[in-house]
Amino acid sequence: MRKSLPEAGQDWAALESTLADAGVRDVRWRDGRAMVYVFHSGEDVMQVAHDAYGMFIAENGLGPAAFPSLKRMESEVVDIALSLQQAPADATGCMTSGGTESILLAMKACRDWSQRHRPVLGTPKVVVPYSAHPAFNKGAHLMGLEVQRLPLQGDFTADVQAMADAVDARTIMLVGSAPCFPYGVIDPIRDLGALAVERGLWLHVDACVGGYLSPFMAEVRAGAGLPPLPAWDFSLPGVSSMSLDLHKYGYTAKGASTVLYRDRAFYSAQVFDFDDWPCGRMNTPTFAGTRPGGAIAAAWAVLHYLGRAGYVAKAGAIHRARERLRAFCARLDLPVYGEPLLSILAFGDRQGDILAAGQGLYKAGWFSSRVQNPDGIQVMLSPGHEPVLDGYLDELERQIVAVRASGGRAQDRDIRYS
Ligand SMILES: Cc1ncc(COP(=O)(O)O)c(C=O)c1O
Repeated sequence: MRKSLPEAGQDWAALESTLADAGVRDVRWRDGRAMVYVFHSGEDVMQVAHDAYGMFIAENGLGPAAFPSLKRMESEVVDIALSLQQAPADATGCMTSGGTESILLAMKACRDWSQRHRPVLGTPKVVVPYSAHPAFNKGAHLMGLEVQRLPLQGDFTADVQAMADAVDARTIMLVGSAPCFPYGVIDPIRDLGALAVERGLWLHVDACVGGYLSPFMAEVRAGAGLPPLPAWDFSLPGVSSMSLDLHKYGYTAKGASTVLYRDRAFYSAQVFDFDDWPCGRMNTPTFAGTRPGGAIAAAWAVLHYLGRAGYVAKAGAIHRARERLRAFCARLDLPVYGEPLLSILAFGDRQGDILAAGQGLYKAGWFSSRVQNPDGIQVMLSPGHEPVLDGYLDELERQIVAVRASGGRAQDRDIRYS
């Protein structure tokens, strides 16, 4: 039956309890049970995001003249992002609603900039590794572009030679991830950057996951005397644009990401400028019209609440949890896919069906993603996982041992998680 609007309004106390009941079957992310979707870094951080969001809940980023506060906050957030990514003086960017929008906007900017400066004959092509996020195909579908996905190397990173071989006269963009979502490994961005420079192509680095984590993980590694992370930021001359999500490892409220460009001219190609309607000129940088002031204020507040030291401490918690998970995988002979150095790790099982173990974990209340070709469980760690990791590893071991003993196979081989 279709629900209709209640005739009379209800009071908040009743609605609040209905909402609380609505969530009882959701994954218990506050207890660290969500290994995807939620980036829990403590109740204090959430409170800051919540309060800041509430203070600007009605304000609209569409109107910078009406809300100079939001304009200033956004510009400071972008400045912070640029400085974290070693961006040159002429670099710029803006906040968006999330990783997908950041990626789509970079594709739009690349398409329009290329049309003007390096036009190609036929459908413009974007060359990406197999592990790139589906947002690139979504963008291509919406914008009349073509995506070519190339197989990965044995270490699950982008195969730069295969991508170079795929570049043709229609190619406008190369993509690498820092890191990719499926395996959490960082693509060889230095080599992709060199290829981009050599062939005059636009390289987009998808750092939706690593953007606000990698600079701090680098400090954790330096402190522990570990080798540095592979370089992937604007210090590499071939990098034209990047997407970095605040609502992932920036720990801010959902609906916040950043898209950055090496050059102001690239950014200009992102902006949509229109004036052929009764209200005159409407100049919008993003796909959205109305932009939630709360998401901007929450991002600004959390960045300032945590500061560099806070983010390094959070990265340290993730680093320790990841190393414990890797040691666990080694002990149980579970192959880890590639060399994950940040927060995501995927692993399989040579002695049993890993997807069956994943299903068992799900039934036991732990929500993780899965990968295919080869099959694996994928875990995306947040600082909030460190204290509960023993519980996860105990359950994982139970499931692995049981599946190995029974030879059971997951009935549901469909690995979609949404
Ligand atoms: C590497 C990567 N890129 C892009 C995205 C898309 O981000 P969003 O879900 O915020 O649109 C994700 C999401 O997990 C991601 O992991």
